[in-house]
Amino acid sequence: MRRLFVPAWADTLSGRARGLHGWRVLLAASGFASCLLAGAAGGADVGRRSAASAHADADHTSTRPTASRAATARSAPLVALGRKLFMDRRLSPNDTMSCGMCHVPEQGFVVNEIATAVGFEGRSLRRNAPTVLDVGMQRSMFHDGRVRTLEEQVWGPLLARDEMANPSREAVLKRIAGLADYRRPWRRAFGDPEVTPPRIEAALAAYERSLDGGLSRFDRWRFLGATDALDARERRGFELFSGAAGCVRCHAIDEREAPFTDHAFHNTGIGARQAATTRYDVPLAPGENTVVDAAWIASQFGANPRDDGRFEFTGRAEDRHRYKTPSLRHVALTAPYMHDGSLATLEAVIDFYARGGGEDPGRDPALAPLDLSPDDRAALAAFLRSLTGERVARLAREARRAASTPEFR
Ligand code: HEC
Ligand code: HEC
Repeated sequence: MRRLFVPAWADTLSGRARGLHGWRVLLAASGFASCLLAGAAGGADVGRRSAASAHADADHTSTRPTASRAATARSAPLVALGRKLFMDRRLSPNDTMSCGMCHVPEQGFVVNEIATAVGFEGRSLRRNAPTVLDVGMQRSMFHDGRVRTLEEQVWGPLLARDEMANPSREAVLKRIAGLADYRRPWRRAFGDPEVTPPRIEAALAAYERSLDGGLSRFDRWRFLGATDALDARERRGFELFSGAAGCVRCHAIDEREAPFTDHAFHNTGIGARQAATTRYDVPLAPGENTVVDAAWIASQFGANPRDDGRFEFTGRAEDRHRYKTPSLRHVALTAPYMHDGSLATLEAVIDFYARGGGEDPGRDPALAPLDLSPDDRAALAAFLRSLTGERVARLAREARRAASTPEFR
């Protein structure tokens, strides 16, 4: 993992705890003023360096310096505005789809019931919605990493015909400007009620960066010396994860923090499995599916739901079926798994890896069949379930409250 620059004042933090929050501290400390300035100038990275951990959480902030707390307080109005936008179904033409409909706060900010997301007027997407928890630490967006920043990412779902289906950016601006309940939060965040694309980007991105899921039991055990935070089985799971099962090679952790991703792209063989599929299970509604033929889908929509992963973006043959290594923080909450949602449970994921991944000549050489007993598999699953952060439930409640515009509860 690339080292983060740690500013001098961060040295006041103690040992390993400092690194744990390296990226969070950095983002928070760089301040809200620069965000506003960049916002006014229309910079694409408005807020990239701003307003990260906008929350005051007594036991959580104990590993952070005062500087970040001050920045946190200043960014609160921007985060609140972003939260309201994220949860607002009026941001789609027929008042149905919000970001929070596919990144459901109570479901780990994904949709647990279906493999791939369902968008505007029930159109189904070809990919599984990833969580936005801890998304501030991601170095690229989407399963194929085709977008670099959260700010750039915002317009994708707002305008995609099968997601929120707005006809244009202007339409989105007009819609928000016409909603009276936005005037006050807008003024609090920016000083005046003018709705501009960079401001929408800045608010949504600041909110997303505030979705810091907090410390997990694993973090407490590994970085804060809480020896009893994990039980024996979970510890055994970690031993396998970081040893014999080789998971850390891609789901990386280091001495100072545990992002559980190398921010790189790998072919696990999941993509090839999917490419060999000629019939698709299409979700109609939560719990209700129908099976259709790939050829029929192509004839109806002119598009092949086939997914080539990062190849689609880079055009490099070796990138076919490579996907971003997802972070495993909060992974117990974010089923189903993989870019196509094809593995329903953590147990299914572990079995998949135990077989050495999927059949694909381009499969990553780091994957090979693993000799894992049923106890080992259970230990790995138990370990993965210890990675849920302590702030997640609270973030979900805050998001749901923000959705309570009277007529759109
Ligand atoms: C119709 C469902 C749907 C809606 C609505 C939706 N998303 Fe997503 N989101 C997805 C899917 C599916 C992906 C993965 C797409 C891909 O990888 O190609 C995704 C990916 C993302 C990512 C990338 C996360 C990562 O780790 O790579 C972010 C950030 C995100 N969405 C934020 C938003 C925001 C903000 C909104 C509202 C403006 C929104 N989404 C609306 C389904 C949705
Ligand atoms: C060669 C790199 C690599 C190794 C080694 C690896 N993974 Fe993964 N892992 C990935 C990639 C890439 C994905 C995403 C695949 C996709 O989206 O299709 C993934 C996905 C996952 C997911 C699903 C997460 C989600 O949100 O969908 C889990 C859980 C997981 N891996 C656990 C493990 C475990 C446990 C091990 C060790 C047995 C392991 N991984 C080894 C690269 C790796």
